[in-house]
Amino acid sequence: MATTTTSQGINAPENAEKRKEILKLLERAYWMEIESVMSYIANSVNPDGVRAQEIREALEEDIQDELGHAQRFAHRIKELYGVVPGSLDFQAEQTYLQPPEHQTDIVHVIKGVIEAEIGGIEHYNRIIEACDGVDWVTQDMTIDILRDEEGHKRLFEGFLREYEVEGRA
Ligand SMILES: [Fe+2]
Ligand SMILES: [Fe+2]
Repeated sequence: MATTTTSQGINAPENAEKRKEILKLLERAYWMEIESVMSYIANSVNPDGVRAQEIREALEEDIQDELGHAQRFAHRIKELYGVVPGSLDFQAEQTYLQPPEHQTDIVHVIKGVIEAEIGGIEHYNRIIEACDGVDWVTQDMTIDILRDEEGHKRLFEGFLREYEVEGRA
């Protein structure tokens, strides 16, 4: 008969390697969220024009979502006995979300947001798969976050569609 273990699942000693792998994925997720917060703040302020208002407001809401995601990933890193990295480890990647040449270029912003969300969706699917059968809590949390990102992507695809119909995108 098996003896009782003090730790099961992802924090069990025999899953140390897997835990390391998941921690790496979580760190990357954390930085992706942090960068989205930065990019979305800039793009919720910079755009000019009547039609920019809708985009700015949508991004303002998303900032809070992405910030919450970053916090959830950070907490999960700690729960898995990792350490949330310091700001000096940050490396920017969102080339597509830099301010456009003209601040009325809303299509640039919309496309950039969609690309950021796709990046998140791809990475979170990777996490969900890596967790399968071994870390249900990270998996459950990431599925929840993935749903938010799919919602963000869908919203901005709708914005883009409007511009496409008018031949502006
Ligand atoms: Fe997010
Ligand atoms: Fe998002």
